[in-house]
Amino acid sequence: MKRLYVLALLTCFVAVVLGAALWKIPRLPYWHKAVQPIAFSHKNHLARGATCFTCHGWVRSESFTGHAIETFAGLPETDACMTCHALDMRILKRKGKNAKVKPELAKLAQYVESGKIPWQRVYRLPGYVFFPHRVHIVAAKVQCSTCHGNTAAQAKPLSLPLVNQQMDRCLSCHQQRHASVDCDTCHH
Ligand code: HEC
Ligand code: HEC
Ligand code: HEC
Ligand code: HEC
Ligand code: HEC
Repeated sequence: MKRLYVLALLTCFVAVVLGAALWKIPRLPYWHKAVQPIAFSHKNHLARGATCFTCHGWVRSESFTGHAIETFAGLPETDACMTCHALDMRILKRKGKNAKVKPELAKLAQYVESGKIPWQRVYRLPGYVFFPHRVHIVAAKVQCSTCHGNTAAQAKPLSLPLVNQQMDRCLSCHQQRHASVDCDTCHH
């Protein structure tokens, strides 16, 4: 009888913990796993001399005209790839299937006409948070890896964030660096 009682108590406990976990999960803004259109490798590209700014140049853009661009790091469109892959694209166009280029590059060719590659964003804060990249990169000189982890080592395209962007993380750095912790700095 006593054992049954303990078992029932244990079951209740597990149910409560599981319930709490499930309640929490859908509130993560970055829950879904992204499937990227091209098997892009950060690792290979950084080894070939590109820097973060080669493809995400907007993070420090000075020519922004408003929030939309100021906040944006930018997911690359085909022109960012064409600086190095224009020749591959010409070979593919001429030789089609017989071209001797890496198969994943044929996928890039599909998007050249429209210029856009349908990358799926993996880092996205809820709409009620304002996050500007530019001030963090240009004024505060925070490294990309402080917030995004070791993206440079990723051989596969990202499907989930390497680092969760919780409010606590923002606040603890703002406290350390004496940046504003007023609610309306990040919540307009
Ligand atoms: C700084 C030059 C540079 C830029 C910019 C660049 N690439 Fe590459 N990429 C390379 C080189 C070099 C290779 C190796 C080519 C080979 O081995 O045939 C490569 C290979 C690839 C491959 C084959 C798989 C691999 O990783 O070896 C894919 C896919 C690829 N690039 C996609 C892209 C896409 C998409 C973009 C734009 C977002 C891009 N690249 C921008 C230089 C670049
Ligand atoms: C202080 C933390 C922080 C730093 C530093 C930072 N990021 Fe971000 N990044 C974020 C957050 C938070 C988001 C999600 C923003 C949103 O949803 O509004 C994000 C989103 C992105 C995105 C996807 C969406 C977009 O804005 O286009 C890219 C790409 C990106 N960051 C690249 C970079 C690169 C490259 C660097 C370094 C040059 C960098 N980030 C530095 C926090 C940071
Ligand atoms: C040659 C182009 C290229 C370079 C160089 C590059 N990236 Fe990217 N980055 C991409 C592409 C393409 C994607 C989308 C596919 C993926 O997730 O891998 C991406 C995605 C990201 C994302 C996820 C954005 C989101 O929310 O969807 C982050 C963060 C990021 N890059 C950070 C960096 C950092 C940090 C560096 C420098 C260490 C860097 N990238 C260098 C092309 C590049
Ligand atoms: C590693 C440190 C660090 C992290 C992490 C960080 N910040 Fe900041 N942030 C700063 C610093 C430093 C400043 C002040 C920059 C200045 O004005 O010189 C700042 C300024 C800001 C500003 C004010 C911009 C302006 O125009 O005055 C906003 C908004 C902001 N951060 C939002 C965020 C959000 C949202 C997050 C989390 C997703 C975050 N920050 C994470 C260091 C950080
Ligand atoms: C430095 C930026 C920053 C500041 C300052 C800030 N927040 Fe946030 N807040 C965030 C980010 C990023 C999120 C979304 C990520 C998360 O839920 O942790 C968020 C989420 C929230 C949420 C939703 C939490 C949830 O679990 O759904 C509430 C409520 C909130 N903030 C209230 C506040 C209040 C009240 C203040 C002032 C005392 C404040 N925030 C100051 C960045 C900030």
